[in-house]
Order: sequence, then structure tokens, then C-alpha cells
Amino acid sequence: MLHVILLDCALELVPSEISSFKEVQMQAGRKGKKPNEILLDQTHHGRAMTKLDHADRRGRPDIVFHSLVTLLETPLCKEGLLRVYMHLQNGRVVEVSPEVRLPRNYDRFVGLMEQLLTTGHVPVEGQPLVQVSKMSLPGLLSKLKDGQSNAMTILATEGGEKTGIQGLRDLLPNDSAVPVIVGIGAFPHGDISDEMKQMFDCQLELDREVMMAWHVCAEVLWIYSERIEVIRRRYSST
Ligand SMILES: C[S@@+](CC[C@H](N)C(=O)[O-])C[C@H]1O[C@@H](n2cnc3c(N)ncnc32)[C@H](O)[C@@H]1O
Repeated sequence: MLHVILLDCALELVPSEISSFKEVQMQAGRKGKKPNEILLDQTHHGRAMTKLDHADRRGRPDIVFHSLVTLLETPLCKEGLLRVYMHLQNGRVVEVSPEVRLPRNYDRFVGLMEQLLTTGHVPVEGQPLVQVSKMSLPGLLSKLKDGQSNAMTILATEGGEKTGIQGLRDLLPNDSAVPVIVGIGAFPHGDISDEMKQMFDCQLELDREVMMAWHVCAEVLWIYSERIEVIRRRYSST
């Protein structure tokens, strides 16, 4: 099973420090919501965000959107061999059901995330498909490893051990029963903290230049799918 954890997601509601800014109030008004019910977004709140700490890491829900769209509803996901989690910058972990069909439209995705962060789960009624859990990141990693000594935790990061496609393929187990947990940063700038790096057994650098989070998601997803032969089993051999 491949578990992808989107780390330090740049996904949050507008914080109170900037809720009185005109651009925030106007956007909230257009949506018929309160300022603290809309997502922080650099595109709309760039000026106000200069007042925030660590502003360059925050307010990029599009990174999460592209990463989730890249991962979900893929052959691996349809085989039940992929789980996705979002680790937020406030430390909370969001569990994403492999059954979820995300809106294809970005504005509708934003609405869904606003509902998630306001109520803690979506849909509001019935079985939650995306929900904020009480787990911490260390708690999640320990749960996913499930006490299996051969479970792997891999952090994709610039500055990690340089690894080509074949190297990544060889590193991954071909037995889908072995949990493979991959952490990928879902924020625009800055580094993954040393504390977080230490939670993973190994750190890998793929391209020699910085990659978009969703490109890393795609590379890991497809190499793992090939490694455990989901591709061979599902694709026509002609
Ligand atoms: C846009 S980067 C975030 C920026 C930040 N400078 C960093 O390296 O963490 C998004 C994420 O993609 C992954 N990533 C980016 N470039 C990578 C590379 N060359 N090799 C492996 N992972 C990479 C990392 O997990 C990174 O946190």
C-alpha cells in the first residue's frame, strides 16, 4: 500500500490577524461568508499576507488541489492500494477517503476545503469522505507503519540522497502488503523542518532542480504502480 502524506499543506482559513483587511472582507462578502470562513490565498490576499509570519509558506491551496487530482482516481487508487493524507501547518492531519471524487473545478474545490476546515469534515452529513482527525504526524506515521518492521518511510526533498528512476523503483518493495509512506511538501517556499525530516527513514532527491509537489506525487505514484505490477495487470498488453 502506498501512503502519500502532503506535508505542511499551505491550506488554512484566513487567520484573524488579517480578517479586517479590505481585500479579505470584499472577497468574503462576494462569497456570502465571514472572513474566517474563506481559504487564505496568496492570489487574493497577497498584500494582507505580508503581515503574517511565514507568509511565503502559506496561502497556496492550489498546490493541494493539483496534488490530490494527480493522486486520486488513478489505477492505483482504484485498486485500493493508495491512501492520501494532508498534514496541515497547524499540525492537524486530514484523512482523504480513496472513494472521494474531487470537484474538477478549482473554485468548487476551494468551497469544499472551506467547508472541511470550518466543520471538520465533508460532506456535512453522512459518511465523511475528507475529515480532520485528532492524529498528529508522528501518530499517523506510527499508525501507518502498523508495527511492520519492513514498512518504509521516505521523504522527498531537495538535498536528500540523489535517486534516479531506477533507484527509486529498486528501493520500493514489490509486495503491496508492505506499507510505503512517502512525505511530500505541499507548500511553495522554505524547507521541511529538521524535526520533520527526522521522522522519515530516508530522504530522497529526484530531479536536480526543485520540483512542483504534484510532479513528485506523479513520479512516486506511477513508479510504485509499476513496481507492484498494477500497471501490468490493468493495462492492455497489446
Ligand atoms: C515546491 S517544493 C517546496 C519548496 C521547498 N524549497 C522544499 O524543497 O521543500 C514541494 C515539495 O516537493 C518535493 N520536492 C521538490 N523538489 C524535489 C526534488 N528535486 N526531489 C525530491 N523532492 C522534491 C519536496 O517534498 C518539497 O517539499
